[in-house]
Amino acid sequence: MKNKIVLGVTGGIAAYKAADIARRIMELGCAVQVVMTKNAEAFIGPLTFEALTGNKVLRAGLPAPGEDSMPHITLQREACIVLVAPATANIIGKFANGIADDSLSTFLLACNAQVIMAPAMNTMMYENKAVQKNIATLKERGVIIVGPAVGMLACGDEGAGKLSPVEDIVTAVEEALKIKRDFANLNVIVTAGGTREPVDAVRFIGNSSSGKMGFSVAEALKRRGAKVTLIAGATEVKPPDDIKIVNVKTAEEMRLETMSCFDNADILIMAAAVGDYRVMEAENRKVKKSGQWNITLVENPDILMEVSKRKRGQIVIGFAAETENTLENGKEKLLKKNMDMIVINDVSRKDTGFASDYNEITILTRAGELTRHGKALKSELAEIILDNAVKLLKNGKNEKDKKRA
Ligand code: CTP
Repeated sequence: MKNKIVLGVTGGIAAYKAADIARRIMELGCAVQVVMTKNAEAFIGPLTFEALTGNKVLRAGLPAPGEDSMPHITLQREACIVLVAPATANIIGKFANGIADDSLSTFLLACNAQVIMAPAMNTMMYENKAVQKNIATLKERGVIIVGPAVGMLACGDEGAGKLSPVEDIVTAVEEALKIKRDFANLNVIVTAGGTREPVDAVRFIGNSSSGKMGFSVAEALKRRGAKVTLIAGATEVKPPDDIKIVNVKTAEEMRLETMSCFDNADILIMAAAVGDYRVMEAENRKVKKSGQWNITLVENPDILMEVSKRKRGQIVIGFAAETENTLENGKEKLLKKNMDMIVINDVSRKDTGFASDYNEITILTRAGELTRHGKALKSELAEIILDNAVKLLKNGKNEKDKKRA
């Protein structure tokens, strides 16, 4: 069966370009189903799309007697990608704020597929804070925004707001077709970065974690449809800007945040380098130097150990940072902390590990499956980690199905 792309067409001068977009998407080997708003019909007729796509256009009004009475639901089951091009300020605003008052806006709310929007409007409208906020909201929810381009607009103004070139829009669809959506609707907690334990008002004990691996995992999850909660300690790199982040400093803060989300999570991925020790009595003033300074350290609670006691079907994935006996130590941690999978990396190497963009990992599951992955970008390894996590999810589901049968 062909992939079905739903093409939402809204009322702007660029609506005529949607005919070309529909044709180009069909050339990718996809079926196209057009949904039009009432205003779009003032710019281009539904007949054009019906002739091009071979499918009846879903129009703005309520279905006539004898027709499918819930087309927005039927369609959401079939859609693999939804492209809105051109997307007016109005449809962007409606989707960002959960308004459903016609076929397209209702369908968008009912649909779980990847949504791509190609805005097109006057520059002043595009730059309006309300529109920018709505676009930012949609991006945060995983909507892919293509453009708009800068150029001469139909109204004679020059600036941002022009519909992106058809090539760019079709390329975005092509790219999205490659994206797996195997984490759609799953709540996933990712911890990243290193924790910092205060010694006094200005000093702390930290570690060399950069946060890169955890951020790559969070980004990959988001692309693959998950609802991600990223709990981040100290990091060297800028966090992804379209994922909601909970910032923490100490291991205790990370423990509290993780535990507060864990019961509602489907998966926990502990990529953070949690400090094992904290200063027993940290000073809240800056300590003046005066020769030797003896500090007593006490052990921090182990987040994964605590999580393992609260597990109710969640998949728990931990990391192991090792400098020697990597596999043995990793395996021991997997079992001791009741993880479902562990990602072991050798942090003694300079070309991979903590601060690098690269890593070399060994993945070990509780069932004993072991796979080694040579030096690769952390973003590539993040996808591999998720591919392995998906297998665990499927196995878990199969087990549940077997128990029910
Ligand atoms: N971890 C945790 N809570 C801690 C310490 C670690 O949840 N207090 C998690 C890490 O996020 C990681 C896994 O446990 O997913 C293993 O962390 P690692 O630092 O490799 O090992 P430790 O258990 O701390 O043991 P050691 O430092 O002795 O190697």
